[in-house]
Amino acid sequence: MSELRGLLGVEHPIVQGPFGGLSFVALAAAVSEAGGLGSFGLYGYDAERIRAVGAQLHAATSQPFALNIWLPTGDEVEPNAQHMIFAQALAPFYGAVGVEMPARPDRYIPPLDEQLDAVWEVAPAVLSVVFGVPSAAVIDEAHRRGIRVVGTATTVAEAVALAEGGVDAIVATGMEAAGHRVSFLRPAEDSLVGTFALIPQVVDAVSVPVIAAGGIADRRGVAAAFALGASGVQVGTAFLATTESAATSAHREAIRTTAADETVLTRAMSGRLARGARNRAVRAIEASGTIAPFPMQNWLTGKFRTPAGEQDLGALQSLWMGQAAPLARYDTAAEVFAELAAGVPGAPAA
Ligand SMILES: Cc1cc2nc3c(=O)[nH]c(=O)nc-3n(C[C@H](O)[C@H](O)[C@H](O)COP(=O)(O)O)c2cc1C
Repeated sequence: MSELRGLLGVEHPIVQGPFGGLSFVALAAAVSEAGGLGSFGLYGYDAERIRAVGAQLHAATSQPFALNIWLPTGDEVEPNAQHMIFAQALAPFYGAVGVEMPARPDRYIPPLDEQLDAVWEVAPAVLSVVFGVPSAAVIDEAHRRGIRVVGTATTVAEAVALAEGGVDAIVATGMEAAGHRVSFLRPAEDSLVGTFALIPQVVDAVSVPVIAAGGIADRRGVAAAFALGASGVQVGTAFLATTESAATSAHREAIRTTAADETVLTRAMSGRLARGARNRAVRAIEASGTIAPFPMQNWLTGKFRTPAGEQDLGALQSLWMGQAAPLARYDTAAEVFAELAAGVPGAPAA
């Protein structure tokens, strides 16, 4: 356990998970200031936005924080002639929030190299990655700069691949977790292992510290993760429901009112499998049977999700949340953090 604390430079082995598209400086900084590791998800961020957010994070906390990127898997589509066909399928959603159908952009997401160059400039304590094993060149560059690299596994085989690739620690994330299934060796649908089964098997298979994610929202979950051999925990949904989070009030309210069995894994919103509430948008897109490949679908739905967020229309947003949503009952990041910290073995009774 102390190994992870020393590795990440934190007082408590508690990571606030990154939220691609929904990260917020205030939340990440609050967790880092509390003695955990705040994370900021850089999905879709170009170099300029990464530099800006890095400056804000450094200004908000002198404690370690993580930046998170999605590695390319090679099957990402570039803007092409099908763009308008898939946009047309979403026309009712654009109409519902009062925006035009979005024209084809030059690119959907910035390339990895552009993001990494900016990450090196920001110099976070930790670079965490999803959807693959970082190249040796990336890991070497991070280490040369004193940056720790954390990979993310959904199966034992992925954890072994990450360990062999040279990462410093591994987030093992069960299928209970919110957001995308970040599988990279087999299709996400074939990589659905629950946290309770996954953690001890990953702990047995690798020698680097394992951070448990998925379904952990209070001290009981933290204690269970440590009992299974984890060296730390990564928590998403419970932090997303707090006042410091960038989630809209409709999203936060949905987290509090959605039962565990009402969350679903769906490709509807992004083209990749992710867990959230099955709201009107998810139901309608699934029923239409028309889902563009990633990242086209994510970009296209983003053009109505953003205004829907501004209008606080929960029915047309991505209401990402995990199966532990009903356990997310704390209002502030400090309250969530104190609750989680009380579950770490050796913590004073709270
Ligand atoms: C809105 C949202 C976006 C997320 N985006 C990312 C991401 O970009 N990168 C990542 O590593 N994890 C991402 N996650 C996963 C969380 O960081 C965390 O691992 C997960 O929520 C843990 O499971 P829990 O929600 O059951 O606590 C996201 C989760 C949510 C809710």
